[in-house]
Amino acid sequence: MTMTSSDIRRTFLDYFARQGHQIVPSASLIPGNDATLLFTNAGMVPFKDVFLGQDPRPYSRATSAQRCVRAGGKHNDLENVGYTARHHTFFEMLGNFSFGDYFKKEAIDYAWQFLTAELKLPAEKLLVTVYESDNEAYELWTQHIGVPAERVIRIGDNKGAAYASDNFWSMGDTGPCGPCTEVFYDHGAEIWGGPPGSPEEDGDRFIEIWNIVFMQFNRHADGRMEPLPKPSVDTGMGLERIAAIMQGVHSNYETDTFQALIKAAAGVTGATDLSNKSLRVIADHIRSCAFLVIDGVQPSNEGRGYVLRRIIRRAVRHGNQLGARGAFFYKLVAALVEQMGEAYPELQARQAVIEKLLRIEEEQFGKTLQRGLSMLEDALQQVTDKVLPGDLVFRLYDTYGFPVDLTNDVARERGYQVDLDGFEAEMQQQRQRAQQASQFGTDYNQQLSSKQVTDFTGYQHDTGNATVVEIIRNGEACQQLADGEEALIILDQTPFYAESGGQMGDTGHLVADDGGVFAVTDTIKVGKAHGHKGTLKGSLQLGQKINAQIDERRRQAIRQNHSATHLVHAALRQVVGEHVTQKGSLVGPDRFRFDFSHFEAVTAAELQQVEQLVNQHIQANHPVQTELMDLESAKAAGAMALFGERYDEAVRVLTMSPFSVELCGGTHVTQTGDIGLFKIVAEGGIAAGVRRIEAVTGMQALHWVHQLEQQAHQVATLLKGDLMSIAERVQQAQDRSRVLEKDMEQLKQKIASQAGASLLDQVQIIADTKVLITELPQVESKALRGILDELKNKLGSGVLLLATVNDGKISLIAGVTKDLTDKVHAGKLVAWAASQVGGKGGGRPDMAQAGGTDSAALPTMLQGATEQVKLQLTS
Ligand code: ALA
Repeated sequence: MTMTSSDIRRTFLDYFARQGHQIVPSASLIPGNDATLLFTNAGMVPFKDVFLGQDPRPYSRATSAQRCVRAGGKHNDLENVGYTARHHTFFEMLGNFSFGDYFKKEAIDYAWQFLTAELKLPAEKLLVTVYESDNEAYELWTQHIGVPAERVIRIGDNKGAAYASDNFWSMGDTGPCGPCTEVFYDHGAEIWGGPPGSPEEDGDRFIEIWNIVFMQFNRHADGRMEPLPKPSVDTGMGLERIAAIMQGVHSNYETDTFQALIKAAAGVTGATDLSNKSLRVIADHIRSCAFLVIDGVQPSNEGRGYVLRRIIRRAVRHGNQLGARGAFFYKLVAALVEQMGEAYPELQARQAVIEKLLRIEEEQFGKTLQRGLSMLEDALQQVTDKVLPGDLVFRLYDTYGFPVDLTNDVARERGYQVDLDGFEAEMQQQRQRAQQASQFGTDYNQQLSSKQVTDFTGYQHDTGNATVVEIIRNGEACQQLADGEEALIILDQTPFYAESGGQMGDTGHLVADDGGVFAVTDTIKVGKAHGHKGTLKGSLQLGQKINAQIDERRRQAIRQNHSATHLVHAALRQVVGEHVTQKGSLVGPDRFRFDFSHFEAVTAAELQQVEQLVNQHIQANHPVQTELMDLESAKAAGAMALFGERYDEAVRVLTMSPFSVELCGGTHVTQTGDIGLFKIVAEGGIAAGVRRIEAVTGMQALHWVHQLEQQAHQVATLLKGDLMSIAERVQQAQDRSRVLEKDMEQLKQKIASQAGASLLDQVQIIADTKVLITELPQVESKALRGILDELKNKLGSGVLLLATVNDGKISLIAGVTKDLTDKVHAGKLVAWAASQVGGKGGGRPDMAQAGGTDSAALPTMLQGATEQVKLQLTS
């Protein structure tokens, strides 16, 4: 029976567990321990610090099936996906690791055993490579294992520099690395390709299946190779590749997992040819996208978020090419859950969130995709040298959201190239423009520096004695301050919190023993010192003893708000979803704001749930505990840390029941009950994928409720009702005004038609024709047309010229019934009339409108008009 991908994963882990390896679950795609790395791109990444000897573990042998992404960064396969049988943006790496335990011999033994005895692969189908100078590995393969010498290939520094070799593996530009030996599988002579090291090595015949790295060095940024504390082993076997072999197929895309995804992709795009390259791309991309979302990445315009966006957009474009209309990509999450949900329960648990996020991103891109594609199409027609110019690629990026690799993908399909340098130059210019736009003045804080270290006593105390150790006036250190001078004062110790982590700095007073008082308006960090900003009354000098007193009430309000941000964070994750992470905050005494990642507006119902949850935890009056611990213990305790941030060795963990556990250096209340009351006052978007909540706590919350109540009272009084019936009253008032509006409309019409009726008295008979020339008082010019039509109807046959004046502006309208238009032309009549009152106009023979400004000339004009009409009727 053929092994499924799941069978292989399980067999691998079981085998190494039997060899004394600890099975370690797959870590996140976001490396928790390395800010230099975009994504976990190999099984060893979570163990990086273990190799370096900085992260002791209770085991020295481990095995894992680690999810990896190779898109962006050093190992980037994005552009190859769809074009080869074996490249993926997302894949699973099976690995076994020795942390200073076994080395080359056992590593090679295990690999060979597993392949030939466990998986029963024929030995003659396998060949291996070793690093050119690694005689030990060469001997192990040829002598100890007995692989024929012609199938053991030495590969040197084939990439142009020392240690730049297919057989010298590095995680990134820095970090653990070492020579490696790789096992290849021969898919058979019917497939094009040559053995490693040959000119045809890029073909699909000989496929690398297992890389065994002998970790020996830590590569530093300057190129220095520092030996590791202990030689170690890191191996990696791509699950997708070994699955292809075990299932007797040549391409990873023919394996069980991918076939299921390809079928699903065909289903949602309407494609019928299952071998279409675009289906492979989509099947690959749904895996990376879903897992990136699970691990907290959201589409954005920078960093990891941009990689995700690029992959989604690439998938959408390929779907579009297959004929998909409307969002389709998100529909594949269900198929993925079916394939991988058992090995990754989080996939199943988060299915709805992944679908929603992908759908929103797809829909957004769908709006510009077509226009971008047709612009690209036009450009492809016009370009003569088969190279798409950089400015065009930039415009597609900037205006239509086409990531450059998407444009490249299209160009490549059509045999075109993309001027990447030109594109980069345009990007560079844009960055410069953005930079210039944001340089509005210099940052005061930036100019300040201090070598002092201030001891912060403000977690426990609001006041404290201290010594002035530095005075900075106008950016320069000085000995003393005179009355009225502004400065920045640094103390050896202080209860004043210096602005950081979103919490505003403290205000208060520094009271000198000789009566000088320095009023502190803000406290900022100056290196490792706390700088007290403010103005002096009296005198102050270096070395002086002072008593530092923060504004306690203000600080207490800040404490309440800061503790509330933690509760909001936890509540949002519970109510809105686990993908919510903090993006920033500002905690002041009056209110606080909390920015977080989320892709759409939080609904009113969700906001209410968040308020309720936070207030429940306030009422539960949990003790607020802080504890210093190392980062690993903090994470083990479930503390929310920001990925990619560097933390000090000892971190401060703030706990409010198990509900909220976070790393934080800020100041907090002692019991959650101290927060009093929590109320959200606003929610909105501040950038793509980032929302902001503004909220108040304690007395400010009460104050806010009071204000609201006052407003409501005023409204109630105006409506002559009480608070509880406001809505009803407003409804009644609205209904009433609708009725009144209707009445008024009817009245207006009535007046107009009455006015019309009385006008009939003014009709003159000229040459047997009814003629009405008159000024209408107080008629809106808009109503003229209706009045004219009515009069025409009533007259049956006749000539009319009506004028009216509003705010000094004259409106004229002329009408001639059809039977008379060969005698009198309304357009000409109105043109003449307008010319008499400082205006211009004209129009149709039966109806025409015009305006004028000279109302003094109106009576004369009206008299003259009668003459005009008479002349025309009698001529
Ligand atoms: N870390 C090695 C690789 O990724 C095993 O190939």
